[in-house]
Amino acid sequence: MSEEKNHNKLTTASGRIYVENENSKTVGPRGPILLEDYILHEKMAHFNRERIPERIVHAKGSGAFGTFTVTEDISQYTKAKVFNKIGKKTKVFLRFSTVGGEKGSADTERDPRGFAIKFYTEDGNWDLVGNNTPVFFIKDPKKFSDFIHTQKRDPYTNCKSPTMVWDYWSLTPESLHQVLILMSDRGTPVGYRHMNGYGSHTFSMINARNEKVFVKYHFKTAQGIKNFTDEEAAQMKSKDLDFAQRDLLESIDNGDFPKWNVKIQVMTTDQARKVDFNPFDITKIWPHSQFPLVDVGVLELNKNPDNYFQDVEQSAFAPAHVVDGLGYSPDKMLQGRLLSYPDAQRYRIGANYEQIPVNRCPFAVNNYQRDGTMRVDGNGGKQPNYWPNSFDEIEVDKTYQEPSEQLEDTIADWYDRNSKVGDNDHYSQPRSLFRDVMSKSEQDNTVNNTIGAMSGITGPKRDVIINRQLCHWFRMDDEFGSRVAKGLGVDINAVMSASVGSH
Ligand code: NDP
Ligand code: HEM
Repeated sequence: MSEEKNHNKLTTASGRIYVENENSKTVGPRGPILLEDYILHEKMAHFNRERIPERIVHAKGSGAFGTFTVTEDISQYTKAKVFNKIGKKTKVFLRFSTVGGEKGSADTERDPRGFAIKFYTEDGNWDLVGNNTPVFFIKDPKKFSDFIHTQKRDPYTNCKSPTMVWDYWSLTPESLHQVLILMSDRGTPVGYRHMNGYGSHTFSMINARNEKVFVKYHFKTAQGIKNFTDEEAAQMKSKDLDFAQRDLLESIDNGDFPKWNVKIQVMTTDQARKVDFNPFDITKIWPHSQFPLVDVGVLELNKNPDNYFQDVEQSAFAPAHVVDGLGYSPDKMLQGRLLSYPDAQRYRIGANYEQIPVNRCPFAVNNYQRDGTMRVDGNGGKQPNYWPNSFDEIEVDKTYQEPSEQLEDTIADWYDRNSKVGDNDHYSQPRSLFRDVMSKSEQDNTVNNTIGAMSGITGPKRDVIINRQLCHWFRMDDEFGSRVAKGLGVDINAVMSASVGSH
């Protein structure tokens, strides 16, 4: 068979040259159509299969390639090669997203933003799958599907429902910190370039002496924080649903490459045992005064993908993907996420999703996984498909072993959120954010945004839900509670005497 390419000729997927691309083959000029018009079948059939399932969360997103450059020596904390030399550059792919909306939803919704980075390191791909906030709504993965159901559409009305959102949050007090941040103007950032990113969970680093520390990752926008007010976000929603996509694409196309200063907070394993809060609780931050930010490097986005579907839609990130010198922590949410993402991607893209160029490790990948739908990488060729074998020289390498782990307990149980002292304070950190960190105008906007969002609660349980949530706001801060109650037209005395249920 000739391998010469049919330059400039339109062909079927199997390479047959088209003679006609707009008119079907018919009996006479007025039809009917012949069954043998295979080109018509192929066009229709492929079109019918163009969609893959959208991500179950974070369906609407935008992505770009870029570079991570090391600017400081952090080898005292980690032996990870991605950090091993000042000036070292590593290729990255970053996908931003909103969380609750579908693939065609508005970029300006009040919602956390995803901040998922794939570092193509020489020890394998490292995925840091974070958000633009340092905390999260829940701290146990068992609650995730219930929580997300409240962020999606009501099964009866098929509409978004502030009633189910606030019902769930008011029954889940650990959500308060994240809800407060979401109600602040940081809940509606101006595109993706003007917001910070956070790894959010506690992770670990291991150095060349096999010593472990715990870390949190921070990506501080070099463009400066910029947020829409509620009104501006609503206006932009009616003007341009894809504002953040367009903004990112155009800024990179124009050579205005967005950057983030990468920093870590570090906690020793000894400190982790002694701090007065649970350092593995994703609803809490580590105060900067106790755990200052340490500079690490700079992340820059400098190349738009040539094809959105190929690189952005098919990209697949997994918190389980760490590399030598970087590790997990006992954070329960992180532990749940280790399983969930590759499982979702095997469903969404298929068993061989790691072979798609944006997901593929550009360095050596050796294993005995074979076959499966859409295997396109040669499938191991003639090499053995089992291990151990007497034919190749592929080995495990014990020098990559992590230090063994000292567990805190030996009793397995379903520990509820009240079981450990310090884990049950859902109010002090949001209080500090509202009282000590926010400016007067940020406070005013946060109060007004909260009133606006809670005004959507309707139905027979309206008063119960509003009062229950107001109790949480009052516990956080009297002034905040009073202002929100007043804005909702609620009698404060009635709230004070209301039951907060079992919570
Ligand atoms: P600091 O004053 O040292 O830090 C305050 C932090 O709050 C800064 O990182 C700032 O980000 C961030 N911030 C400002 N406005 C908002 C907002 N509307 N939503 C979310 N974050 C915001 O104080 P502490 O470290 O003692 O933390 C105090 C409170 O600040 C915490 O309880 C927490 O609610 C919040 N916070 C703390 C973070 C941390 O890692 N310690 C991270 C983010 C928030 P920037 O510098 O980019 O403006
Ligand atoms: C996407 C599950 C918590 C950030 C996803 C996806 C799933 C999922 C199944 C879709 C994956 C895909 O199809 O490719 C969960 C579960 C959680 C959890 C079970 C809790 C137990 C979190 C937290 C964060 C986060 C705490 C941030 C700190 C993201 C991001 C994406 C995502 C950024 C989009 C990744 C991309 O751009 O492709 N999550 N998630 N998730 N999640 Fe989570």
